[in-house]
Amino acid sequence: MNTTTRRSFIKQTAAASTGVFYIAKTSWAAKSPGDTINMAVIGFHGRGQSHISGYKAQAKDGVRIAALCDVDSKVLSGGLDHLNKDSKDKIKAQGYSDLRKLFENKDIDAVSIATPNHWHSLASIWAMQAGKDVYVEKPVSHNVWEGRQMVKCARKHGKIVQTGTQSRSSREGIFEAVKWVQAGNLGKIKLARGLCYKRRPSIGKTEGPQTIPDTVDFDLWCGPAPKDELRRAKLHYDWHWQWNYGNGDLGNQGIHQMDIARWFLGEMALSPRVWSAGGRMGYEDDGQTGNTQIVYHDYEKAPLIFEVRGLPESAKSKNMDKLKGASVGVIVECENGYVVVPNYTGATAYDKDGKEIKTWKGSEDHFKNFISACRTRNKDDLNADILEGHLSSALCHTGNISYRLGQKKNPDEIKEQIKGDRFAAESFGRMAEHLAQNEVDITKDKLTIGPALKFNPETERFTDSEEANALVKDKYRKPFVVPDEV
Ligand SMILES: NC(=O)c1ccc[n+]([C@@H]2O[C@H](COP(=O)([O-])OP(=O)(O)OC[C@H]3O[C@@H](n4cnc5c(N)ncnc54)[C@H](O)[C@@H]3O)[C@@H](O)[C@H]2O)c1
Repeated sequence: MNTTTRRSFIKQTAAASTGVFYIAKTSWAAKSPGDTINMAVIGFHGRGQSHISGYKAQAKDGVRIAALCDVDSKVLSGGLDHLNKDSKDKIKAQGYSDLRKLFENKDIDAVSIATPNHWHSLASIWAMQAGKDVYVEKPVSHNVWEGRQMVKCARKHGKIVQTGTQSRSSREGIFEAVKWVQAGNLGKIKLARGLCYKRRPSIGKTEGPQTIPDTVDFDLWCGPAPKDELRRAKLHYDWHWQWNYGNGDLGNQGIHQMDIARWFLGEMALSPRVWSAGGRMGYEDDGQTGNTQIVYHDYEKAPLIFEVRGLPESAKSKNMDKLKGASVGVIVECENGYVVVPNYTGATAYDKDGKEIKTWKGSEDHFKNFISACRTRNKDDLNADILEGHLSSALCHTGNISYRLGQKKNPDEIKEQIKGDRFAAESFGRMAEHLAQNEVDITKDKLTIGPALKFNPETERFTDSEEANALVKDKYRKPFVVPDEV
C-alpha cells in the first residue's frame, strides 16, 4: 500500500469506526487567484435566496454557483429552474437534497449555509472536513459547545469561515464608529445595550401533530435535532420559536445587535456572569422561546444588556417602541454622550444633551468580502471571522440558558433579585411598562427570571450549575453528531 492510499485507508477506517464524516479534500492549493470559485448554497427557502443573489452578482469576478442543496424538493427545483434559466454556463448547476453527497463533490470549493440553526455547526464542520470554505448564517451555532468546535475546525483545516452578520461589513459606518468610541472620544463606555424590538405575532396553536409536506425529507430536515412530531402549522421559518431548532428572537434578529454591542465593548470572550428574565407574553401558541426578554451580561468593564420585545408599543398599535431612535439597534452609553446604531450600515454619536456630534455611514458587500478572503486564504481579511460569530452567538445561548432554567416570579421578587446590577432595574422597569401597555398584568401572568450564572470564559462552561452545563451542548441524533474531534 503506498503512503497516500494507506493514509486515506486509515482515514476511512477511522471514519467508519467513529461515525465521523470524512471525505477527500478539495484541492484549494491547486487554485490560483484568478480561478473560478465554485459555490454551493445550502438551504434557500428564505435567506438563502440572498446568498444566491450575492454570488450571482459576482459571476464576472469568477464566482459560479455550481450546486444548490435543499431538503425540500419544491424549494430545490424552483431554485435550480431559476438559476439555470438565467445562466449562460454550458454546465448547469447540480441539485442535491443530502448535503453529505454535495460535500463529496470535489469540484465545489465553498459552501454557503442558510439552513435552520440546528444544522449550522454540523454542516459547516462536515464541509470544512471535506475541504470547503464556509459562509454560515447567524447564529453560527445552536449551542455554545458546537460554536467553539467550528472555530477549532476552521483553524485546524485552515479554512475561511465567514459569519452571516453582514453589519460587520459596514466598514465606513459601524466599524469607524467602533474605532472612534474605543479611542475614548466619549470617555469610557458605561453600558452597551442591544435592542430587538421587532413584531412577532402568534404562530397559532395546533391541536396535534401536523402533516409533513410531502416535498420535504423530514429526517434530513431534523438532522442533529430530535425527530419529533411536527408541532407547528408552518414547517419552515417558525422553527425559530421552538428550542430544538431555533434560539428565539435573541438568536435570530438579536444576534446581529448582540454582535454589534460586543464589537463596541471590544470583548473577545464570553461574559463571566449572565442572567435573563422574560416570557412568551400576550398570547399562547406553539412557540416556546421568549418574545419578551432581558439578558444581562456582566462584563467587568461595562455590562451588555439585551432587550427583546415581540409585542408592539401598545395593545392599540402595530408600531414598535423606539429607544433613542432605535427599534432594532444598539445604544452605547458613554461618560460624555452616547452612540446609536439604528441599522446595519451606520451610526450616530450624540453628546450628553442629545445633540448630534458625528455620523458614519457605509457598507461593503459581505458575500464579496467572503470570496475575496477565500482567494487570499487569510482569515484576517474576513469582516466576520467564525470566532466573532461563535462569541456573539454564544452570548445569546448563555442568556437563553439562564432563561430556560428560570422560575416564574412576582415583579417585586424580580426587582429584588436584580437590584445589585448596574442599569438592570431601569431595563426591567421599561419592560414592565411595555407589557402594561400591552394589557399584560405581570402580577398575574408572571415573568420568568433565571439564575445569575457564573461562567468560565476559558473553558466556556458554567462554574456553579450542572443544570446549565447540561444545556451547553445538544444531545445529537445519530448519525448527525457534531464530532468531538474536528
Ligand atoms: N443574515 C441575515 O440577515 C439573515 C436573515 C434571515 C435569516 N437568516 C438566517 O438564515 C437561516 C435560514 O433562515 P430562513 O428564514 O431562510 O429559514 P427557512 O426555514 O425559511 O429556510 C431554511 C431552508 O433550509 C432548508 N433545509 C433544512 N435543513 C436542510 C439541510 N439539512 N440541507 C439543506 N437544506 C436544508 C429548508 O428546507 C428550507 O428551505 C437561519 O439560520 C436564519 O437565522 C439570516
